[in-house]
Amino acid sequence: MPPVERRPDTDDSPAGGRPAPSADWWRDAVFYQVYVRSFADGNGDGVGDLIGIRSRLGHLAELGVDALWITPFYPSPMADHGYDVADPRDVEPVFGDLAEFDALLAEAHALGIRVTIDLVPNHTSDHHEWFQAALAAGPGSAERARYLFRDGRGAEPPNNWPSVFGGPAWTRVPDGQWYLHIFAPEQPDLDFTNPEVIADLEETMRFWLDRGVDGFRIDVAHGMAKPDGLPDMVPMEDTGLLDDHGPGDKRFDQDGVHAVHRRIRSVLDQYPGTMAVGEVWVSDDARLAQYVREDELQLAFNFKLLTADWSAEALRPAITHSLAAVARTPAPACWVLSNHDRPRHVTRYGGGELGLRRARAAALLQLALPGAVYVYNGDELGMPDVDLPDEALQDPIWERSGHAERGRDAGRVPVPWSGTGPSYGFSSSPATWLPMPEGWGGLTVEAQAADPSSMQSLYRAALALRRSAKAFGGEELEWLPAPDGCLAFRRPDGLVCLVNMSAAAVPLPEGRVLLASAPVGEGLLPADSAVWLTA
Ligand code: GLC
Repeated sequence: MPPVERRPDTDDSPAGGRPAPSADWWRDAVFYQVYVRSFADGNGDGVGDLIGIRSRLGHLAELGVDALWITPFYPSPMADHGYDVADPRDVEPVFGDLAEFDALLAEAHALGIRVTIDLVPNHTSDHHEWFQAALAAGPGSAERARYLFRDGRGAEPPNNWPSVFGGPAWTRVPDGQWYLHIFAPEQPDLDFTNPEVIADLEETMRFWLDRGVDGFRIDVAHGMAKPDGLPDMVPMEDTGLLDDHGPGDKRFDQDGVHAVHRRIRSVLDQYPGTMAVGEVWVSDDARLAQYVREDELQLAFNFKLLTADWSAEALRPAITHSLAAVARTPAPACWVLSNHDRPRHVTRYGGGELGLRRARAAALLQLALPGAVYVYNGDELGMPDVDLPDEALQDPIWERSGHAERGRDAGRVPVPWSGTGPSYGFSSSPATWLPMPEGWGGLTVEAQAADPSSMQSLYRAALALRRSAKAFGGEELEWLPAPDGCLAFRRPDGLVCLVNMSAAAVPLPEGRVLLASAPVGEGLLPADSAVWLTA
């Protein structure tokens, strides 16, 4: 394995300050998503926190990531585990305080790791002082005009929009008006046509940028703008269902959202070297491209890998469309295999040994692609989803769907660090906020560090190569002929990646093997594996 070399632009960073500005460090960066509740618990209450993250920065540096995305750690009643923000310019006591955040930032920077944080513009918590004031002030008030309060249609809500978490997107308040919440009732949507709302967002951005953060992940970046008059969504002709996240979904991807992104960008431009990535659940290439125009976001997640099955037929178009979406924009592609909202890919790919083997190959696929990469905490360990008992479930989806959908907790179980349980070094308490299963001793960071064939060793080797090997240069991708059920491509500076999703071993292409997800003997790449080669 080649030595890990820090890129010059992260050398000699002043402690506490941002690493020396490099306008486009994010173009090929590996971001590591820290789901704060589940990464590491530093104070023994069973919930991850900022001290926990700080204590594990060494792991992240050794892993070789360039930047963190830390999910919301702001004061919150936790109706949606932090995505219901009561005060966007402070730290939730469960997670720490501002001094602890500053210390984390300084230490990460000293290690050459950039820090990006979640920005949640679309909605606040119902505990936010603005929403409390809106409830108190009554219909027609300036306080209500920061949110989307409307009169109903008789006893019916103002329109037929559903909440993403189940049930209607409207809740009625005692004086008879209704307010819009695209997510949980505890997450009222803000009205971005109100100048106070965008001004407050800018203040939040400056608050954190002045402290030294390197950028933001924008939550629901395709939300924020709502169509004039909040018209009904029209059921689709073929199914009679509402067009969830499609072109007919009036809750998302309205043209007015781009004005918000231009404002976000103009703040970022005042802080050289900072960036934003949007959570944009928009599948049309041309519509997605609009979010990464020159004066909008630097990156937009492309979720096509996250939603594609393990087959060449699904993955090749996922890659082609992701590249096509950014082809005529200044942005590189931005690849995601797993996150805190979706089943983990080990499980999606079949679970068990099969899921792990495929996940190893998928890691090499993701890390060979040109552009930015997001790794979700635990991907590097091969964490699977966990079957949790009903009584452990906490995601609002579970209750709001009337127990029809289990929600997202299965992929949010804490990261195992060491030992044999019950909390595997995640916490000094055995009672973790979601229970950790028995039998995870072999999955821990500690156990995997000692095993050169572990998932973690594969990630370390892959990230080191990606960082230092010349073959990874250039943002183009040339498809190469490949056997049935396989994908093969070449990067401009020579990296060749072959992924075998067929049921049989296939011949290795010409070249020197840099890294493989499974042993490659006798010139063959086994089924469900991937290899990197160079000339
Ligand atoms: C985003 C987050 C998700 C959250 C939702 C509402 O989709 O990733 O976790 O529930 O926004 O803020």
